[in-house]
Order: sequence, then structure tokens, then C-alpha cells
Amino acid sequence: MKINAAITAVGGYLPEYVLTNEELSTLVDTNDEWITSRTGIKERRILKGEKGLSDMCVPAVEELLKKRGISASELDLVIVGTITGDYGFPSAANVICDKIGAKNAWGYDLSAACSGFIYSLATGAQFIETGRYKKVLVIGADKMSSIINYEDRATCIIFGDGAGAVLLEPSTEDVGIKDFLLKSDGSGRNYLYMPAGGSLKPASKSTVENNEHYVVQEGQTVFKFAVKEMADVSAEILERNNLKGEDIAWLVPHQANKRIIDATASRVNIGSDKVMMNIEKYGNTTAGTIPLLLWDYEKQLKKGDNLIISAFGGGFTWGSIWLKWAYDGSKVGK
Ligand code: UT7
Repeated sequence: MKINAAITAVGGYLPEYVLTNEELSTLVDTNDEWITSRTGIKERRILKGEKGLSDMCVPAVEELLKKRGISASELDLVIVGTITGDYGFPSAANVICDKIGAKNAWGYDLSAACSGFIYSLATGAQFIETGRYKKVLVIGADKMSSIINYEDRATCIIFGDGAGAVLLEPSTEDVGIKDFLLKSDGSGRNYLYMPAGGSLKPASKSTVENNEHYVVQEGQTVFKFAVKEMADVSAEILERNNLKGEDIAWLVPHQANKRIIDATASRVNIGSDKVMMNIEKYGNTTAGTIPLLLWDYEKQLKKGDNLIISAFGGGFTWGSIWLKWAYDGSKVGK
């Protein structure tokens, strides 16, 4: 009998500090009206103090473990989609396994920017479907405030910090990850990237002086690709599985820009009442957006619901996952 990889629990964490559009307008030449109408974002969360990515992931995972009623020592594997681990190395997964006490797990980070969570989810599912593992933790998280220049109005209005996690377990029922379609085009690398700090341009006095350790984005170019590719890949995964918009309970789109989300939803004929959205509260948390949506909407999810999860991000990287939800979220206490 085929083993399916089902999501059986979700957890999330958002830092307390709320960075509003009003506060941003005191830092750069912008205003609430521009940010709201161009992006849909009202506020985002910022991790303050000397804290790293793992300080957000640990509470998200602890919540998940508590909800599922299992201990960290039961985990087999931890995959972390992120571009902002605590260190260049060791990996965020290494640090998180230690902090949560996942003594029997190994893990690694997966770098695919805003597509980090969907790449990680598809990867984690393979370890379940082959029968190799019983409990795979997939985290999507980023501390974007660590690589954002709060003097650059083209980027600082968009991004925020946050962490989400899901647990994958085997199921022989007709639930779990049904199909995925993941894509990559590295020729987009100069439109959304961090110029220094990698092996090409290691940190030096001049890279710091030239602000090269911050995200650089050519917004309009990325926008044009994102609008087309996120809609195309969502339509493609529906078509190849003979699904129509009306078969879908929820579209779960990466939260980069409300206009990109609306374009994707309209292309696949999914009404706005079936589109998960929390961009107004958290902005773009990069690999965190999708697990945080599942976390926010968990109570409304029903067993058997068809979800289309879609993302687009730096690289470029993008893709869609078709997933059948495995449990009634209303029965889970937070
Ligand atoms: O998640 C990873 C993938 N990333 C994305 O999907 C992001 C894709 N890009 C976007 O979401 C949008 O391109 C942005 C939100 C980044 C920018 O929106 P836009 O509608 O593409 O604006 P624009 O860059 O074309 O700028 C329009 C105008 C310009 O002024 P002029 O030349 O028309 O006078 C900008 O200088 O708005 C100005 N502008 C701003 N004004 C107030 C740019 N940023 C701001 C700002 N506040 N923050």
C-alpha cells in the first residue's frame, strides 16, 4: 500500500515587536497609503535583541510537539528552509536539534529563499514516502531584519521575521502530499540577492561600508516574473491533476505582495474567500510565510481539503504543491 506523507501538526512563532507602516515612514521616505496599496502590508514583526533564527524556531517547534503530544527525541529528521540561520555554519538544523533535544534526529538547511519551505516540504516527504522515516519536521523561517537595510525603502517595507513548522508522518489514507512541481532559474540571481558575505565576496571593511550585506531587489523585474510564474505553475499543477478551481478548498500563496497573490488566485479561478492571507500582519517572512499561513488557518482546515501551496522567490525559485489536508483543525487546541 502506498505510504503518503501527511502533515499531522503545525506550530508557529512571531516576535512581539510590531513594526508598523507609520514607524517605517519615520525611517525612510514612504507612507502607509503607498505601502498598503502597492503591497497589502500594514505591519510586520521584528526579532529584537541579540537573538537568532533558532530563537524563533524553538518555540514554534515546541508548540507543534505539544499539540501532537510527542517528544523531540521521536523526531527522525529536521529540514529547515531558511537563508538566515544563526551562523554561516553550522546549519540552523544543527542548532535547533540541539536546543529542542532532538537527540535521535539529523538535519540540514535548505536554501531556496522564499521557496525554501515548499522545496523543504517536497524533500521531507520523500523520506516518509520511501518508508525510511516516521517523523520528519519541516521548518520554514527567516529573520529578514538581519539582512535588511532600514534606509532602503525598496526593501525595508516588505520583509519581516517569523517561523513556522509542520510535522510529516506516514499515512495510508488518501491524504498528504499528492504532487509537487518545483522550478529554478538561476539567471534571476542579480534581481534579488545579497551581494556579499558568500564565498564570491567575503565580508570585508569595504563590503560593510558599501552596504553589501543587505538584500538588494529590483522590485519591478521580480514582480513581473513572480506574477507570471506563480500563476503558471499553480495552473499547471491543477491541469496535470485534472483539478479545477472549485475542487480547491484553499490556495496557500507565498506572501510577497497582495497583487501577486490576487493575480495567482484569479488565474486558477479560486475566489478570494478561499485564499489564505496574512500579509497585512506579518509582511514577507520569506521561508516563513507558508507554514505561518497553515498555522493561522489551522482551525478552519478540514480532513480531505485540497490545498494548492505556491511560492516564488529569489534565485529565481518557484513551484506548487498539491496537498490533501489530513485532520480536522477545529479539534486541535493551540
Ligand atoms: O518574496 C520574494 C519575491 N519578491 C517579490 O515578489 C517582490 C516583487 N516586487 C514587488 O512586490 C514590488 O515591485 C514592490 C512592492 C517592491 C515595489 O512596487 P512597484 O509597484 O513595483 O513600485 P516601483 O518600484 O515601480 O516604484 C513606483 C514608484 C517609484 O517612483 P516614481 O519613479 O514613479 O516617481 C518609486 O521610487 O514608487 C516609488 N517607491 C516608493 N514610494 C514610497 C518605491 N518604493 C517606495 C516606498 N514608498 N517604499
